[in-house]
Amino acid sequence: MRSSFGSKIGMVLASAGSAVGLGNIWRFPTEAGRNGGAAFILLYLACVLLLAMPVMIGEFVIGRASRANTVDSYRVLAPGKPWVVSGFIGVVAGFLVLSYYSVVAGWTLDYTVVSFSASLMKPMDYGGYFDSFVRNPWRPVLAMAAFMAATHFVVARGVEKGIERFSKILMPLLFCIILVLIVCSLSMPGAEKGLEFLFKPDFSKVNTQVVLSAMGQAFFTLSVGIGCLATYASYFSDDTPLVRVAFNVCLIDTLVAVSAGLIIFPAVFSVSGAQVDAGPGLVFITLPNVFNSAFGALPVLNYIFSSLFYLLLFVAALTSSISMHEISTAYITETFHLERRVAARIVTAICMVFGVVCSLSFGIWSGIHVFGMGFFDLFDYFVAKFCMPLGGILICTFVGWDLKHSTVRRQLGSRFTPLLMFLFRWVAPIGIGIVFVYELMDR
Ligand code: PHE
Repeated sequence: MRSSFGSKIGMVLASAGSAVGLGNIWRFPTEAGRNGGAAFILLYLACVLLLAMPVMIGEFVIGRASRANTVDSYRVLAPGKPWVVSGFIGVVAGFLVLSYYSVVAGWTLDYTVVSFSASLMKPMDYGGYFDSFVRNPWRPVLAMAAFMAATHFVVARGVEKGIERFSKILMPLLFCIILVLIVCSLSMPGAEKGLEFLFKPDFSKVNTQVVLSAMGQAFFTLSVGIGCLATYASYFSDDTPLVRVAFNVCLIDTLVAVSAGLIIFPAVFSVSGAQVDAGPGLVFITLPNVFNSAFGALPVLNYIFSSLFYLLLFVAALTSSISMHEISTAYITETFHLERRVAARIVTAICMVFGVVCSLSFGIWSGIHVFGMGFFDLFDYFVAKFCMPLGGILICTFVGWDLKHSTVRRQLGSRFTPLLMFLFRWVAPIGIGIVFVYELMDR
């Protein structure tokens, strides 16, 4: 018998866990900081509603209608047709995304350990720390491997006993940490400037590049386009309202992203001289320096704030990496009729090898470039800018034009079906297509 989720809440938390990750807490504030704050956020919301959410619902339809892994789902629903390519894109992207994601997730693990064990009174120079850490040939690799082992531990236990059970523990933990951190951050002196940056749009910064980033961010943060959520939906029960679940997942994901902004920007603005457009270093360099001095008179609060923040990043990363792992684990288990534990080991081993390559591209292999990029950036580009949009176009076109209308209607069971069909057929494929072509021409 195929596995399934045991409860509705477990299913929603697992899907939200996939969506909520480094994309929300690391990538979103970085992108918003670089691209003009509130104006970027508005564009991003439009991309979520018009482009990424339809892809998510399309994935849910495909997964539950077929009850198979992302490759077999097309074999079940459209035998002999070339749509299966979309499934293979998903499996390849699943391997690659887990490989580079776990490198950054490894950093969060290291920072969690370091901030929990840091001496309360001694501020560190995090800029120097970060540089020497990522360049070290061993430490980031070991951290990546430890993170991958944690992911493996959960996935190998199965859908209900592993993914669902851990999501039910980790997601509430994540929500609690977020609440504590928002309160801490908003109580810092000068926090209003951060709120203004986050909520007052400055449209002068908007250009095509900002639109491209907003769509890339929407796809990455909602985990759509590579069959991850289709795989999860294949474990949903028959009476799960797909449109409602998708809406809830998008809502939770967006709330967490905005919360991350509420935690980070007031804190960064409150400490003078801190930069919001610092790029990927925002969370690993700028922010820890903020933590050093945020509550000047009460160093113990700095300690709590920074330790909880990195724990939050780690937990969020783990619930996402589990879902990436599951794409390939489900595929290998069902295609080669292997035990789940064996399939999971194969996936973990392959991703660790790729992970080492990505990790070293920050250090001793930083000189090696393919298509003008280091391995980490290359993997990220290929997954986020190529596989996700292409997969998204294929998924919407398949559900809108090829899949039997009665199947789609039965799966959706919603009064929004006509609107969704319009999005599947026209808005999403054309919208994603335009951005995708721009993106490729831009390189
Ligand atoms: N959505 C995750 C995040 O925001 C990343 C992710 C991408 C997860 C693709 C699964 C698949 O971090």
